[in-house]
Amino acid sequence: MNTNLSRKNTEITASITLGITAKAKKMVADGIDVISFGSGEPDFRTPKYIRDAAIKAIEEESIGYTPSAGLPQLKKAICEKFKKDNNLDFNPENIVVSNGAKHSLNNALQAICNPEDEVIVAAPYWVSYPEMIKMADAEPIILDTREENEFKYDMKSLESAITDKTKAIILTSPNNPTGAVYDESELRQIAEIAIKHNIFIISDEIYEKLIYDGKHVSIASFGDEIKDLTIVINGMSKAYAMTGWRIGYLAANKEIATIINNVQSHYTSNPNTIAQYASIEALRGDQKPIEDMIKAFDERRKYIVERINSIKGLSCKMPKGAFYVMINISECLGKSFNGFTVNSSMDFAQYLLDNAKVAVIPGIGFGDDNYMRLSYATSLENIKEGLNRIEKAIR
Ligand SMILES: Cc1ncc(COP(=O)(O)O)c(C=O)c1O
Repeated sequence: MNTNLSRKNTEITASITLGITAKAKKMVADGIDVISFGSGEPDFRTPKYIRDAAIKAIEEESIGYTPSAGLPQLKKAICEKFKKDNNLDFNPENIVVSNGAKHSLNNALQAICNPEDEVIVAAPYWVSYPEMIKMADAEPIILDTREENEFKYDMKSLESAITDKTKAIILTSPNNPTGAVYDESELRQIAEIAIKHNIFIISDEIYEKLIYDGKHVSIASFGDEIKDLTIVINGMSKAYAMTGWRIGYLAANKEIATIINNVQSHYTSNPNTIAQYASIEALRGDQKPIEDMIKAFDERRKYIVERINSIKGLSCKMPKGAFYVMINISECLGKSFNGFTVNSSMDFAQYLLDNAKVAVIPGIGFGDDNYMRLSYATSLENIKEGLNRIEKAIR
């Protein structure tokens, strides 16, 4: 009998973000007053017009299977969105709707990667990229970025990381965890590099709507050549406070979209039908609730950055998008607080959770031990109290 488990999958680590958030939630359930900065989801309810659309669908539509790549009406609404927001012309045959952007990213990597391919990722990175790349049998090539460079790819380092095995570059703008937003000229340079070396760009644009200064530009919009090499990833979770509805989507050239559709048809069939109907309304309906959400995030962002930079031992740059701030904790490493020595970001997170009852995500989860990530997808009141606690704990 051979009961060895899958070598590839036993090596995959659990998401640190979800792990810490779950621990903090358990402490809250046990009656402990924990303030969590761990969350990767808006603390707003899904807007009412979207909830109403879901209820209407349940009452009026047949909630059966849909085509595996999504309802034709939703794919049409997504094409309209790409035209309106990104000046991108896609046809429904280019679109695959999936169970969240996470699923779309996995689909994209599975469609393009072969064993020994390399995929370039900037660190600090979103926790799931390296594991997803490994699950697609490829190798993550981690390229460190610097805070002074706003945690963006340095173009020289990016180009020199390319080998004959490079299959794709992952580009995340706005970025989780750093809040970095690439400007048009930087995106054009990345596009040039991709075209020159004939490699794919997986452009994760899930935080597109959450930009505080300036406007999002999609790298795919610079012309047919780069559009053909780009797989654009987006979804409903962050912009529409629809994390639990699990709808993400991608746009790619027809060949890639067809492969993904075929694979998805065997893996998961279609994403949830009710959530698909609700997503049509989300994309086409009144966008005012989203604007209100962005205003609230912006106010918190400014507050949190000012407070952090006033706390001795901590510092951070102003994030330009998403709802996270990367805090430099390097001055605290190697020091003792209340008898607890902090040698790593994990120690720091553990200390803050045990001592200050504040949950943060250690930078090591994003590939950089000198940082911790705070999410400001929590109320201003919680942010104020949480920062008071952090300040006291490291005084
Ligand atoms: C950078 C990035 N991409 C993709 C996702 C996945 O979003 P979802 O699967 O909820 O659509 C997240 C969620 O945290 C993210 O931060």
